[in-house]
Amino acid sequence: MRKILQGARVVDPQVGLDAVADIYVRDGRIVAIVVDVDGPANAEGSDAAGASDAADAVGVVGEWAEVERVDLRGKVVLPGLFDMHVHFREPGQEHKEDILTGSRAAARGGFTGVATMANTTPVVDNGKLIERQIERGEEVGLVDIFPIGAVTKGLEGKELAEMGEMAEAGAVAFSDDGHGIQHGGLMRLALDYAKVWDRPIITHSQDDAVVGSGVVNEGVVSTRLGLAGWPAQGEVVQILRDVELVRLTGGRMHVAHISTAPGVEVVREAKAAGLDVTAEATPHHLFLTEDDITTEYETYLKVNPPLRAHADAEALAQAVVDGTIDVIATDHAPHAAHEKDLEFENAPFGMIGLETSLPAVFTGLVQPGRIGWDRVVELMVARPREILRLAPQKIEAGAEANLCVFDPEGTTPVDREHLASKSANSGFWGRVLHGEVWGTMLRGEFTYREGAVAK
Ligand code: DOR
Repeated sequence: MRKILQGARVVDPQVGLDAVADIYVRDGRIVAIVVDVDGPANAEGSDAAGASDAADAVGVVGEWAEVERVDLRGKVVLPGLFDMHVHFREPGQEHKEDILTGSRAAARGGFTGVATMANTTPVVDNGKLIERQIERGEEVGLVDIFPIGAVTKGLEGKELAEMGEMAEAGAVAFSDDGHGIQHGGLMRLALDYAKVWDRPIITHSQDDAVVGSGVVNEGVVSTRLGLAGWPAQGEVVQILRDVELVRLTGGRMHVAHISTAPGVEVVREAKAAGLDVTAEATPHHLFLTEDDITTEYETYLKVNPPLRAHADAEALAQAVVDGTIDVIATDHAPHAAHEKDLEFENAPFGMIGLETSLPAVFTGLVQPGRIGWDRVVELMVARPREILRLAPQKIEAGAEANLCVFDPEGTTPVDREHLASKSANSGFWGRVLHGEVWGTMLRGEFTYREGAVAK
């Protein structure tokens, strides 16, 4: 099937592209990008000179006369987004989400690739389960799924899981996400072993002895709400320990859902020291704070690590701008309504995020002028793929046609009607975010387009 995506602003800093252009798609691949030399967004660095050559090369007049033309004027086209931190809950917790509904949510959010966390039931801690995740993702066919294997058997923090077997089966990283690894010796071994397959250990940085039964950020808000506090130090002491273990082992560590200003400072220093330490922030830790939790005790705002103080969120935003934070990932964590409908202490941690991620980033960082679309591509496409050693996803001739089409003039109302996820526990519930994902293309076919998911 041939398509010409016409007239959008096409942005991909990986190939120096930011210009109004037509994208020619055939047999699942981009065959040419024809830059509109008169286009308003035609920016420096775009390959305007190659435009007519490219048009010739694809035979615009002949073969391309009968194609689907998609009018994308006013839209922004980016490479398909990649979320390196999602929970799809299959196997075992399909009442929250499954690989089909999670894939739908991903497509709706502009994502063409995701990395799934291992805290399913049973835990993904062996090669067979890694293979099954990949197969099921392919059967569904809405998003490419790259499973993350557990670091420890059953996520119990006692004994290393079969890391080699999982790496060979296709695990792109290892993580006990949902739990911090309490035993420093085990973490040292994990960092050491993962080097063999050039995989990162993705840390859920939480020292249980420091955190105790904390459920919200420790400080004025935990006191006001009468809830047990989860102090910033519960995160910082583990990041500090693990940075030192990276120094010792020469391993690679990626800090998941970093939430505190001092935690970011530790990552900044580790990077300056040349250690292989990277970090991600979630839209909820960037754009929501502990102050959003009121005496209504909104359990959809209960996440682990907890929403922090305004100064922490601002430090995260600064670190996204200056490059200390490499990646924006959602920690898409679906939970059923009956599970969240409990006392704050007893409700599970987690909120969904795939469908609001790009609109939230647009509303919170792009529109206010703090980052440009080029940085969005680094944070939500290029860096996560690089960290997981996946092939780059670029907008260039020959590449798979994996694209995200965003409409900056649209809006994203966050309510049940607009969510494809099986669960509705969004922290942005009831808000209307700016901009909307208009469509998502995976290997030349729209997996999502104008309100409808392909399957
Ligand atoms: O809020 C969270 N929910 N944080 C985690 O680390 C795990 C996740 C989940 O699996 O629900």
